[in-house]
Amino acid sequence: MNNERFESYSEITEKEIGQALDFAYQHIRKYVPEFTTSFQNAYSENNFYKPIPNNYWTTGFWTGEIWLAYEYSQDEVLKKAAEVQVQSFLERIDQKIEVDHHDMGFLYSPSCVAAYKLTGNQKGWEAAVKAADQLITRFHDVGQFIQAWGPMNAPENYRLIIDCLLNLPLLYWASEETGETHYKEIADQHIHTAINNVIREDYSTWHTFFFDMETGQPDHGETCQGYKNDSAWARGQAWGIYGCALAYKYLKDDRYIQLFENVTQYYLNHLPKDLVPYWDLTFTDGSSEPRDSSSASIAACGLLEMAKYVDSKKAKTYQSIAKKMMKSLVSHYAVTDHEMSNGLVLHSTYSNRTPYNTCDHKGVDECNIWGDYFYMEALTRLYTDWNLYW
Ligand code: GLY
Repeated sequence: MNNERFESYSEITEKEIGQALDFAYQHIRKYVPEFTTSFQNAYSENNFYKPIPNNYWTTGFWTGEIWLAYEYSQDEVLKKAAEVQVQSFLERIDQKIEVDHHDMGFLYSPSCVAAYKLTGNQKGWEAAVKAADQLITRFHDVGQFIQAWGPMNAPENYRLIIDCLLNLPLLYWASEETGETHYKEIADQHIHTAINNVIREDYSTWHTFFFDMETGQPDHGETCQGYKNDSAWARGQAWGIYGCALAYKYLKDDRYIQLFENVTQYYLNHLPKDLVPYWDLTFTDGSSEPRDSSSASIAACGLLEMAKYVDSKKAKTYQSIAKKMMKSLVSHYAVTDHEMSNGLVLHSTYSNRTPYNTCDHKGVDECNIWGDYFYMEALTRLYTDWNLYW
């Protein structure tokens, strides 16, 4: 991986990592009473999240932040709050509240798998296995993929999306825990289908990819949240980076190391000077478009994960790039005063409507809840030998 462009940049120091985590812990501790029976919304409005019930694809990230803050502090107040939320996740899957989509991993890994791994929480275990059962109902034999959104078999949604790579660890966990191999088999198959189709020849990525409903043959790529079809949505590329690292973790297929490098290199080549991308990689230094700081944290987590599986020289390079990204985030994007926001990281972009894409317009240049979560995850990975929730 070519890191020359950033050779002279400073890495985040151990002291800065500790200080940033300490602030995050204090911040979450301050806001947790307000968000125990409710969740922080997917995006802030003027940098403040409003409370929402447990009915959106993003609520697991807030619980995940609480668990990360608990891991850092061992503060029992946080553990109790997270346990209240685990109960809510069990009720959600039992009552099938807004679970007809592929985001079961985003919902149940940082909340319920985390609860089980950290404290042996049995409700977390039960909820996460039920969520894995729900996720596999979305697998199509014709095409061999998990359908992301919408009613099953709807022609306008016969597609996968790159983000789904982060939903699959839930299936590997369920296989391990139950001894049932079908979860893993579906995850393996989806990874093969996704990676063979969402990565373009130049190693930029498609956000979504359609399959022929009759034959299962790959049909075409399309963006939803990127600037336009042939651009590279920054977060999609970051999901690709972390997704390839996780694909390697679970499949140990050496091809994924090279793909990881190529997808990451494309991302690095399109970064502005401060290593925090604009919301689409089409834009770079000098653009007035908003940033997506969440992509930087997601990419850093992917680099730190992949560093575990490569030789020490490569590992050092990956870790160094991640530390430089985190230095930039901590120095210029992180919330620094408990009153200025109830989130952790500013300047993230959820979905930015353009004449060429199909998403709703929301959470632009705001805090985004997964941005806060992955920021904490990256800091935690740098602080300690972290046992993944994924
Ligand atoms: N997974 C949806 C997003 O990244 O906005």
